[in-house]
Amino acid sequence: MTLLQGKVGLVFGVANDRSYATSIAQSLTANGAVCAFSHLPGEKNERRTRKGVESIGIADPWLFPCDAGKDEDLDAVFAAYARTHRRLDFVVHSIAFAEREWLAFGKFNETPRAAYLSAIDISAYTLVAMARRARPLMHDSGGGSILAMSYYGSEKVVPGYNVMGVAKAALECSMRYLAAELGSSNIRVNTISGGPLRTLASSAVGGIDTMLEHTPQRAPLRRNIEGREVGDTAAFLVSDLGSGITGENLYVDCGVNIVGV
Ligand SMILES: NC(=O)c1ccc[n+]([C@@H]2O[C@H](COP(=O)([O-])OP(=O)(O)OC[C@H]3O[C@@H](n4cnc5c(N)ncnc54)[C@H](O)[C@@H]3O)[C@@H](O)[C@H]2O)c1
Repeated sequence: MTLLQGKVGLVFGVANDRSYATSIAQSLTANGAVCAFSHLPGEKNERRTRKGVESIGIADPWLFPCDAGKDEDLDAVFAAYARTHRRLDFVVHSIAFAEREWLAFGKFNETPRAAYLSAIDISAYTLVAMARRARPLMHDSGGGSILAMSYYGSEKVVPGYNVMGVAKAALECSMRYLAAELGSSNIRVNTISGGPLRTLASSAVGGIDTMLEHTPQRAPLRRNIEGREVGDTAAFLVSDLGSGITGENLYVDCGVNIVGV
C-alpha cells in the first residue's frame, strides 16, 4: 500500500510547472493521493494551470476557477469539490500575492495601505477562509491536513521581501490559531517554510537573486532547495506518518535558517 492511498484533496497555487504547488501535487500523486486543482479565473490562467498539472503526468485534472480574494469564489470551489468528491483529506494553500512595486529594496516604508492589506488578504487571510470551508468536509472524512507555504522572511528581515514578510508572519500565526481550533476535528494545520526557488511569484521579489546566491554559501547543505524536497515534505505532513504534527512551521530550506552569520 502506498503512503497516501485513498487520500483526496484540493490544491491551490499551480501557476505552471515551476510552482511549489506543482512539486507538491507531484509528490502527493506519486504517493497515491488524488489531487483536484483550483486556478485563477480566466481562460489563460486555466490553460497555464492545466499545462502545469499535465507536466507532472496528471491527465484530465479536476480544475475549478477561484480568486481567493473573493468569498463567493471560495464558496463555489468548495461546493463544486463537495459535489464531485466523496471526501476531503487535504488542502494545499500555495498562493501569495503582493504588488511587485513594493517588493524592492528600501520600499517597505512606502507601502501604501491598500497594498499592505491586499498582501495580507490574499497571502494570509485566505488560509483562514479556506480552512473554514474545508472543516465540515474534513470532519466528515474523519480529519484532514491543511498545509500552507511560508518563508523565513516572516521572522527575519530579508531585503526586498518587505510586505510579503508581514503577510507570512500573519500566515504562520493564523496557522497556529487554526491548528488549535480545528484539532478537535482531527484536522492538522501546518506551514512549510520553503527555501528560495525561482518561480513566477518569487521573480517579483526584489531580493530573490541574492537569496539564491547566498543560500549555497551559508546553508549547512551548501545548496539551494529543490521543489521536489518541499513536495516530499508535504506528502509526509499529509500522510498518517505526520499524524502527531500540527501547528508547526517546518523548514525545508537546506538548513539555512539556523545560520546566524
Ligand atoms: N518561490 C519561493 O522562493 C518561495 C519560498 C517560500 C515560500 N514560497 C511560497 O510558496 C507559495 C507558492 O508560490 P510559488 O513560489 O510556487 O509561485 P507561483 O507563482 O508558482 O504560485 C503562486 C500562486 O498564487 C496564486 N495566486 C495569486 N493570487 C491569487 C488569488 N487572488 N487567488 C488564487 N490564487 C492566487 C497564483 O495563481 C499562483 O498559482 C507562495 O505562498 C509563496 O509565497 C515561495
